[in-house]
Amino acid sequence: MFTDTHCHLYSEYYEDILEVIKDAKEKKVDRFINNGCDRLSNLEVLKLISIYKEMYGAIGIHPENVLSYNLDDLKFIEENINNPKIIAIGEIGLDYYYTKENKEEQIKLFSSQLSLAEKYHKPVIIHSREATEDTINILKRHHVKGVIHSFSGSKETAQEYIKMGFLLGINGVITFKNAKIKDVIKELPLNNLVLETDSPYLTPEPFRGTTNNPSHILEIANFTASLFNISLSELMQITNQNIKRVFQI
Ligand code: NI
Repeated sequence: MFTDTHCHLYSEYYEDILEVIKDAKEKKVDRFINNGCDRLSNLEVLKLISIYKEMYGAIGIHPENVLSYNLDDLKFIEENINNPKIIAIGEIGLDYYYTKENKEEQIKLFSSQLSLAEKYHKPVIIHSREATEDTINILKRHHVKGVIHSFSGSKETAQEYIKMGFLLGINGVITFKNAKIKDVIKELPLNNLVLETDSPYLTPEPFRGTTNNPSHILEIANFTASLFNISLSELMQITNQNIKRVFQI
């Protein structure tokens, strides 16, 4: 069975999360890493992982919430970090796509969460958009490993992340007709890749335009397996080994 290493399963997006889990299981996806992005979603992640045994959690403050978080939200992460089903700090990182104006605040938020990860020996799940150089420089100042979620960079950038001990997350973007990322991904070693949906976003072809859900790991997996000319079960085995190496699940 496959694992969706990055999704946002909150009641804000899904009426019936149990139904989402059941549908995914029918499509060979039976584990989920649910990523929080602010205080409210972190709370919900904690609640859901206590209900669903196949769900693991990552809690963190996403860079797009840089102007609305407060120090209590970081304290909340620290207070819950040793929950055995919280397997990472995420989704955290840098996003300069909409604006670079709050760059310093983003870097401060990112760095303090990386310090928490270091202190508690937790992996991190990284969001980096239009911010590769800063992301790499900041990660180099911390002893952390984890996943670069929705990796979209060059082969050189990929190699740099891999050298630092990071896995790269592949999602529905790889199935998009004009996506150049498939040319980069197929040159990379399979033992550094994991699959993710980023549900409810980034729905793969042929379902693009609808709300994403973890069952669509199957489309991403089929595409990736054919890109590497391997079977679905080989891909399943390799990606699950990669997950185990970094997250111990
Ligand atoms: Ni995400």
